[in-house]
Amino acid sequence: MKRKNNYTNKKNKKKQGKTLTITLLISGVIMTGLLIGLGMNDWDVEKSLKKGQEAIGISVADEDATPEAEPTELSDLAKQPDESVVEPDADVAKEEDEPGKVQEVTPGRKPTEQKTPPSKPTKNNGAGSSTEVKPNPTMENGGYIEGQVLPKEPKYVKEILLANKKYPLPTTYAPGEDKNARGAFERMAAEAKLADFNLNAFSTYRSFEYQTTLYERYVARDGKKAADTYSARPGYSEHQTGLAFDIGEVNFEQHFASSSFGETEAGKWVAANAHRFGFVMRYPEGKEQITGYMHESWHFRYVGTRVAGEIFKLNLTLEEYLGVQ
Ligand code: DAL
Ligand code: ZN
Repeated sequence: MKRKNNYTNKKNKKKQGKTLTITLLISGVIMTGLLIGLGMNDWDVEKSLKKGQEAIGISVADEDATPEAEPTELSDLAKQPDESVVEPDADVAKEEDEPGKVQEVTPGRKPTEQKTPPSKPTKNNGAGSSTEVKPNPTMENGGYIEGQVLPKEPKYVKEILLANKKYPLPTTYAPGEDKNARGAFERMAAEAKLADFNLNAFSTYRSFEYQTTLYERYVARDGKKAADTYSARPGYSEHQTGLAFDIGEVNFEQHFASSSFGETEAGKWVAANAHRFGFVMRYPEGKEQITGYMHESWHFRYVGTRVAGEIFKLNLTLEEYLGVQ
């Protein structure tokens, strides 16, 4: 009996030893496999895992490859049509700014601009007035002050002419396109050309009357609420200052007034360099509650190189820089 037990114990020990050896062997093989796998994938654990899963037929959701809901060109145009209305171009179209000629941008349309007398902001009403304006995060009334009457004089803060949803311009304010802004744009376009980008300004100065036509047209088409996110009410457009330039690339009209411009190489070049010529991107992404408008990758405002440099460096909106948000 004792012998039998001894025999059984020995047998069990032998069995246990065998199992341990097999386990160690399997672990060794797995470890070696894992190490080889890691080595083959530049020691990138995630990559190795993915490759391993693929090898055994598990489909892996690739975060990088997950398609985003991208705005289509059509929806872009539907959202941003005011900018797509091309104005008379002294260099190209030679048309007059006629409300009756308002058209939407369609691929292949000629970019236009308008040349008019200069107007440079010089008056300084001081930044103290910033307390007059309260943030309007809910964008009630489209971000406008209910019942506001258009002023008799334009508003300057730190010698910068301001035109936004809180600070409108007089109906009679009609300076035309600013000469300094035009000069700066031409210098920027010349430098962009060296990088193979043929820039143009497809909409610059807009009269009060012209903005009225545009805005009313978009309200009729999209409703007031939607129109207020992309088109300024008459008297509130920065284009009426003559200092706003809608920038695009010649022969790429499909990107005019479209968020897609910001994704083009030319758009990226302008975004990265405009400040060196005195322009700031006026309606940046993520600052909609401050500017009151959706992001416009094409709309730049001339403020001069010093201010533009500061705004760019500090990543501010004009409202934030002037303390009037
Ligand atoms: N699109 C800008 C906000 C304007 O209408 O002036
Ligand atoms: Zn614009």
